[in-house]
Amino acid sequence: MAFSLFDSKGTDIDEQRFTWRDMVQKPVSKLDDDAFTRILVILINGLETEALRFGHMAARFNRELRLPLAKVRRTEQHQATLVNWLIAADHSPLETTVAYEQVAIEVTAAIAQSEPDPYLAQVYRFGLPEEVDHLYRYAALLDRLEGKDANNILQSYTDILPGRPTSEHHRAPEDELREPYNAGTAAFLSKVNALTSVASEYQAHDYYQNIGPLFSDPLARQLYAEIASVEEQHVTQYESMLDPAESWIEQWLLHEAAECYHYYSCVEQETNHHLRTIWERFLDYELGHFHMACEAFKQVERRDPAEIVSSDFAGPLALRSQRDCARCSWTKSRCAPTAPASWPGRSKARSRSATAAWSTPTVRPATWSPPAMCGCRGPSSIAKACWPPPASPRPERISQQENRDAYSSTRTHGNEPHRHPDVADRQQSDAGA
Ligand SMILES: [Fe+2]
Ligand SMILES: [Fe+2]
Ligand SMILES: [Fe+2]
Ligand SMILES: [Fe+2]
Repeated sequence: MAFSLFDSKGTDIDEQRFTWRDMVQKPVSKLDDDAFTRILVILINGLETEALRFGHMAARFNRELRLPLAKVRRTEQHQATLVNWLIAADHSPLETTVAYEQVAIEVTAAIAQSEPDPYLAQVYRFGLPEEVDHLYRYAALLDRLEGKDANNILQSYTDILPGRPTSEHHRAPEDELREPYNAGTAAFLSKVNALTSVASEYQAHDYYQNIGPLFSDPLARQLYAEIASVEEQHVTQYESMLDPAESWIEQWLLHEAAECYHYYSCVEQETNHHLRTIWERFLDYELGHFHMACEAFKQVERRDPAEIVSSDFAGPLALRSQRDCARCSWTKSRCAPTAPASWPGRSKARSRSATAAWSTPTVRPATWSPPAMCGCRGPSSIAKACWPPPASPRPERISQQENRDAYSSTRTHGNEPHRHPDVADRQQSDAGA
């Protein structure tokens, strides 16, 4: 069902109230709730923290927006708390990390398939095999440190496979910058997709930065340091897709629109009834924020919000197992381990030290078209040489009972760390690269 941002005014900002008690809701169950419930929680938390971050930056540069932004941020703060606290305390930091990478894979793949601009879609497809590799490495670390199978978190919706090797992720800064969309001509959904990706990557980066020092294992600390660095690059990449010509209020309006869209997606797809009531309440809150931003847009910029919100959302972001899309990108990453040479922003430098020209502007050439992509519907000419990828170690989703049984058996490993060859070998090979 299509969703229009203008059908409802939502909840007035002065009616958006919280108590400490309702800010701390019953958390999701690690083993009994569907993995996609946790995926939605993490995705939404990323959007809420991005809303807070953006609200503070906008207030620094816009005196007339300070009061409305301060009011909205109060709600964003409490929304972020309620949503983040939905992750149950029985998730170890490393298990939560695995869940974050599952979010990165599933959300990036879903966005890549919904993105109407083929150039931007390819940026998402380019980033996907890097998230696949992050998951692979963290899954190995979970086995090494806690003796647990990452599939208990992933519920086998997401494959654990090597992606593009992490040593290939460390690009020169100019290789990270993409050509932004044009705010005047880009589809509304393209703008929302880009903001969603920035929010998601920022969240992963901040989490790894904070969690890394909690580990005593030197390999774990190195792995978090390395992947946090890559997540910062991902923020840079997706942020460069935003049009810098957009005004602060325009960007505020887009942030609120993105939050509305994802709460709407949650309401449509949530299987946990308790959480669905939270998503419905917060969708109304976000509609209230969106209409505040629209008012500011009209009064300050004398422009019509319909210029920005040029269409309704045709449907929710389809969050379901994106195994085929991820495998497809994985296959291409094997065939073309780095960005295609024809990409804008692709310099000859492979590392910052080798960089000769930092300020070379990158443009989307008029003749540029994306290399043949299979669109996740099957092997393309690029991918044929190594299609099909190896079968997943566990291709079918396991039942909740199997999940619980598997979890209790892995816990019998106790806390004794045991060496997992993958982690050590990959660290060595990356160090030598
Ligand atoms: Fe919010
Ligand atoms: Fe990642
Ligand atoms: Fe990432
Ligand atoms: Fe908001």
